[in-house]
Amino acid sequence: MNQPKKSASSPDRYTITAALPYTNGAIHIGHLAGVYVPADIYARYLRLIGKDVAFICGSDEHGVPITIKAKKEGVTPQDIVDKYHAIIKTSFEDFGISFDNYSRTTSKIHHDTAQEFFKTLYDKGEFIEETTEQLYDEEADQFLADRFVTGTCPKCGYEEAYGDQCEKCGSSLNATDLINPKSAISGNVPTLKQTKHWFLPLDKHEAFLREWILEGHKKDWKPNVYGQVKSWIDDGLRPRAVTRDLDWGIPVPVEGADGKVLYVWFDAPIGYISSTKEWAERVGKDWEPYWKDENTKLVHFIGKDNIVFHCIIFPAMLKAEGSYILPDNVPANEFLNLEGNKLSTSKNWAVWLPEYLEDFPNQQDVLRYALTANAPETKDNDFTWKDFQARNNNELVAIFGNFINRVVVLTDKYYNGVAPEPSDFSVVDEETLAAVKAYPDVIASSIERYRFREASQELLNLARLGNKYLADEEPWKLVKTDEARTKTIMFVSLQIASALATLSEPFLPFTSDKLKTILNIHSGDVKNSWTDISSKKVLLHTGHPIGKAELLFSKIEDDAIQSQLDKLIASKLANEAANKKVEPQKETIAFEDFSKLDIRVGTILEAEKMPKANKLLVLKIDTGIDIRTIVSGIAESFTPEEIIGKRVTVLVNLAPRTLRGVESQGMILMTESEDGKLVFVNPDTSSEAKVPNGLQIS
Ligand code: MF3
Ligand code: ZN
Repeated sequence: MNQPKKSASSPDRYTITAALPYTNGAIHIGHLAGVYVPADIYARYLRLIGKDVAFICGSDEHGVPITIKAKKEGVTPQDIVDKYHAIIKTSFEDFGISFDNYSRTTSKIHHDTAQEFFKTLYDKGEFIEETTEQLYDEEADQFLADRFVTGTCPKCGYEEAYGDQCEKCGSSLNATDLINPKSAISGNVPTLKQTKHWFLPLDKHEAFLREWILEGHKKDWKPNVYGQVKSWIDDGLRPRAVTRDLDWGIPVPVEGADGKVLYVWFDAPIGYISSTKEWAERVGKDWEPYWKDENTKLVHFIGKDNIVFHCIIFPAMLKAEGSYILPDNVPANEFLNLEGNKLSTSKNWAVWLPEYLEDFPNQQDVLRYALTANAPETKDNDFTWKDFQARNNNELVAIFGNFINRVVVLTDKYYNGVAPEPSDFSVVDEETLAAVKAYPDVIASSIERYRFREASQELLNLARLGNKYLADEEPWKLVKTDEARTKTIMFVSLQIASALATLSEPFLPFTSDKLKTILNIHSGDVKNSWTDISSKKVLLHTGHPIGKAELLFSKIEDDAIQSQLDKLIASKLANEAANKKVEPQKETIAFEDFSKLDIRVGTILEAEKMPKANKLLVLKIDTGIDIRTIVSGIAESFTPEEIIGKRVTVLVNLAPRTLRGVESQGMILMTESEDGKLVFVNPDTSSEAKVPNGLQIS
């Protein structure tokens, strides 16, 4: 075992993992698009073709972000993970993510499994034990690892890199690599303090990683994944600490490790294994073949920020342990943006699944579909509400839903909902039926190459085929003149509808279910598997009774989209307000200083742009004492025309200054309005009022 195996073309079983989400927030569309929907499509498809599948996930409940959040909210880390574990688990169920098991890393089975794993590597001498200087926050009396410290990334210069990873360039880092490190707890500059840790010598595994990935998976791994891995290996791998001085995590199970826990990225991927064990125990299976049999295909679904952990560190751990298989593929996705901006939990720039469901009840499939059709498979992609609306209205409603609705309504109307008997098939009928039979393979081939957007579009093409067939054959016209031909057309249409019911299941599980209920094909002879669609002569037999029409999708109106956009604008404004820096108050001045200012009300008589200067206007001002020239830097906010005649407040005894060759003899007082616009400090006087000679200042 543990040999780099040739990827078996027909494995006995599949272990499919989806990245364990951190339990410090809800799930948003980025998670769904990047990891969980593609993984679910894959797992559902494999089950439909009769494969033995374990689709595994769970909550990632350790790690610094959780402790930070707990501290902020004044609760325990356990409170935080309990809360979000429940929310996340419910979201996955709500969106039809069909995990065979959803565990959590605070469970006993996981703690035991992770400790045992560590112990095995420890006993085998796979770690380096070393006392080194690590970053320390004196004030907080705590070592600073991972997200407890930020600083400048030595690789790309990003200033907000974390102690274990730079989110900008994806590099995995050691905290001591950071330039200008800063404690995330106190903001202090860390000191260095000695502490003992256990390191996984990644350098020792470099040759194996090179052979396994760089030589073994050059062709079948996605170029974005392969490229990242190659550049890390080419950069040279270094030993990496797998323990931490923290109080939230799994205790290091060896002597002399008091107060130390496993690094979250050491324990979390082992969570795939413990979740598999939990599942196997529950359903009465043996977990080991799912992780140790060479005829098992292991596939990790992750986002691109997880590549190093799944392609280098975890495989090195599995290899070092010695009895495990390695992933056959790691089809990591790129990132999804939202309306042109990076998704961000802290900036609340996201579409959260619980909120989506409130606003679009029972429309999970629409989101699944929109995210799949626009998935960030080869590059970062943008989710827009307009595209979401168009995918629904122009594709799901107008094509898929419309076809099904016509078939069901006409079958009901003409034949009381009973599938009619066909007579001779025309050439078009034969071609159409043959085309339907080709779809399972076409879609399967895309899915097996992890091209889910392509697969989803092929599914839609099948609905298009049905729509076109009906539009061309026009049974609603023929029904008056040619009963036999009408029956044949409706029979063929019902076969297409039936194929759609099965082939849509991985993508649109709720719709598929509804459609199966409408077509009355939940069980028995008419319940077709994926492969039945190509092999069976008839999918839905003459005499089979179907149910009444029910809308599969409904149109999404502009106002529903607008209110989502409004929500985003509101969170943008809230963010800007929260981040707005108010200039601190300047030093106190004495009354005598203030009384030196001679401030008067004047009128702008003339205004023109200063040649070759963007910001400057040259003004002629009647100050009540004289008419003088003042150069003012307001040209970007006002046109000369709009300010002529305006009453303004003027500081008249400011020492003259020459700007671009023009002597300015004073200053117009300006301030900023709440929304950041430049406005005049306005003497509140009508044009008739007498201009006071100087302002009262006492
Ligand atoms: N919690 C991590 C994240 O959200 C993913 C962990 S994946 C696992 O980025 F392999 F560690 F489980
Ligand atoms: Zn970087």
